[in-house]
Amino acid sequence: MANTKVVLQEDEIPKQWYNIQADMPTPMQPPLHPGTKQPIGPDDMARIFPMNLIEQEMSRERWIDIPEEVMEKLLLWRPSPLYRARAFEKALGTPARIYYKNEGVSPAGSHKPNTAVAQAYYNKVFGIKRLTTETGAGQWGSALAMACSLFGLECKVYMVRISFDQKPFRKMMMAVWGADCVPSPSADTQAGRKILAETPDTPGSLGIAISEAIEDAVTSENTRYSLGSVLNHVLMHQTIIGLEAQKQMAKVGAYPDVVIGCVGGGSNFAGLAFPYVRDKIHGKKIAVIGAEPHACPTMTRGPFGYDFGDTAGNTPLMPMHSLGHTFVPEPIHAGGLRYHGVAPLISQLILDGLVEPRAYHQVESYEASVLWARSEGFISAPETGHALAAVVEEAKRAKEEGKEKTILFNWSGHGLMDLVGYDKYFSGQLKDYALPEEDLKRFTAPLAEFPKPKGASNA
Ligand SMILES: Cc1ncc(COP(=O)(O)O)c(C=O)c1O
Repeated sequence: MANTKVVLQEDEIPKQWYNIQADMPTPMQPPLHPGTKQPIGPDDMARIFPMNLIEQEMSRERWIDIPEEVMEKLLLWRPSPLYRARAFEKALGTPARIYYKNEGVSPAGSHKPNTAVAQAYYNKVFGIKRLTTETGAGQWGSALAMACSLFGLECKVYMVRISFDQKPFRKMMMAVWGADCVPSPSADTQAGRKILAETPDTPGSLGIAISEAIEDAVTSENTRYSLGSVLNHVLMHQTIIGLEAQKQMAKVGAYPDVVIGCVGGGSNFAGLAFPYVRDKIHGKKIAVIGAEPHACPTMTRGPFGYDFGDTAGNTPLMPMHSLGHTFVPEPIHAGGLRYHGVAPLISQLILDGLVEPRAYHQVESYEASVLWARSEGFISAPETGHALAAVVEEAKRAKEEGKEKTILFNWSGHGLMDLVGYDKYFSGQLKDYALPEEDLKRFTAPLAEFPKPKGASNA
């Protein structure tokens, strides 16, 4: 009988993370200090992150050992299974072979715990007692809440208001793991109070929630901030996904022609894709596609330039595609894809033509997710639905061209806490929304004031 899943034994799990900085044809340009506009050094970040993670952030070593204590926690759900989605292939009538990594098997239900346990561990050994963070969909907040409970740290989560209201069960999960979760903007920080005074009805944004979490970290004792995406070390912790996938694909003699992931800040996409981008740099002919929403088209329409990672302008200036740090996206259901920027590493790979961004509408994402649930069984997170929309597009293209190509994608999480979005889809309440050109111009206009990295398109 043909395989449905390929599983690795625990002792086959990769023992090191992959750092793509060692192989990039054009190195990532440095983040800048917002005051001096000079490249930041490790000390500039020391109040926000522990030094052991800052060292990882700046490292150019190709392979970094996964500490035993982190591995012990990863083994609670890893290695994650690689599946062949035969029923979905049949439903689409495509000659394409579709494989996917199931990252929904983690305790919090997505890929996010892969970095959460690593970050909690490094903070713990550095002597930190409490972590603060933001969360969009609630997947990251719950992942960090879980990781903090495993390592005995306190955890405070600022959750984007619209998701806090849409997804009450995520907050309850965080409470079970012992974390404190408040809607953002909140009255707990200066940044939050200012925004509430100006726009009391704001749905919130990841940029605002990040400002709150950073302010809390730098004004509280023994506290650091933890980010669930965007940064180099976060993307690196996720590469265990792609490294496992390479071993699993090899076991069935397969290699992808197309690699796909959805992109918010970029961590699950990078996790699967970076080990394959390495192959591409060394000559493999593959397409590597990042899928984002038309409502928050950071990679496809956001100019490349320096911008802040948060709304209040507390972070270093990052070289990235951005819709402007004050951008507040429409409240689409894929809360985890509503971020104004994207990882600098991914931005550079887009500039170098190694990664291809594409945008999809939320309705086509739900269409793909419903077809998926009715053929493969699993209910996808709304973020993951965007990857599925790209898979459908590629599978249909394979059918038109009569090509037997192999598609590999990251099923980044389950949607069991996101059923309200499905309900709205079935009752016809979900609307497609593409960011109007005037809004794009307005939100990105301030970027013209910032220094220009090489390849900048912020006029
Ligand atoms: C299930 C799921 N997939 C994808 C994302 C997007 O984040 P990233 O681009 O960092 O993977 C999120 C973010 O919350 C998520 O919860």
